[in-house]
Amino acid sequence: MLVCRDLPALRDATARLRAGGRRLGLVPTMGALHAGHIELVAAARRASDAVAASIFVNPLQFAANEDLARYPRDEEGDLAKLHGAGCDLVWMPPVATMYPPGAATVIEVAGPSAGWEGDARPGHFRGVATVCAKLFLQTSADVAAFGEKDWQQLQVVTRMARDIDLPIRILPVATVREADGLAMSSRNRFLSAAERTTAPLLHQVMTRAAAEMLRGASVAGVLAAGEADLRAAGFAPDYLALVEADTLQAIGVLRSDGPMRLLAAARLGGVRLLDNIAVG
Ligand code: PAJ
Repeated sequence: MLVCRDLPALRDATARLRAGGRRLGLVPTMGALHAGHIELVAAARRASDAVAASIFVNPLQFAANEDLARYPRDEEGDLAKLHGAGCDLVWMPPVATMYPPGAATVIEVAGPSAGWEGDARPGHFRGVATVCAKLFLQTSADVAAFGEKDWQQLQVVTRMARDIDLPIRILPVATVREADGLAMSSRNRFLSAAERTTAPLLHQVMTRAAAEMLRGASVAGVLAAGEADLRAAGFAPDYLALVEADTLQAIGVLRSDGPMRLLAAARLGGVRLLDNIAVG
């Protein structure tokens, strides 16, 4: 497994991995890897001939008040996990390589960036779209794997690739969960023991809400009851919403003409938990 930290080395390595028409898969990450990330590596491997992962804690997607400084970092552990997962290449650019002084270009994806995480984290998806476009172009990857865990991010990146004709296929990968249903996340390590016991309730409330909607209960009533259940358990919910799966537009009644998603964000102590599930 090759580790590249500058662009000439990366271009050289990806040219060799793509020689003879071999397809390169990319797994963009911010490190602190867990089984969810490793599942993306496995999915990228199934969809291509060689796999690259990137580890880059992207300052452009953190707002000034956010946890950039306390974002967990574990380079040695991450490299060991990627090696174990059969990754061929790891791209770990320094911030000054990704954003040289004077960098002035960003990518703004309207549509799916609006609302939800876009409201909670202004500028977040501009940072995500910009770094993902750069990672796609830097690596010339043919396929890039993204987790459904970050549903809105997946839609933003998919929309961007279509809109500006990036020659890459975005491969969605189902959310990997703990045995009790909690979606794996690098931020789960910040939950206290008591909060960790409460955390799976988010997924339970969502699963129950989806089932009730499908049984014909009022969408607004189910969402209000779900938020109340979360509050009663000690969560501070930011949103619990039924949306069109691709546009992220909120809907008040079940649709029959396309996929739907139930989205949730809720704080538990100092940790903001995100989850989403398909409805129907
Ligand atoms: P990060 O939070 O490290 O996540 C990297 C990838 O892993 C994303 O595609 C995310 O959706 C996926 N992932 C995280 N937890 C998952 C889980 N439990 N199951 C399945 N996939 C999971 O998302 C980012 O980094 C950044 O925004 C990035 C795309 C790298 C751009 O900086």
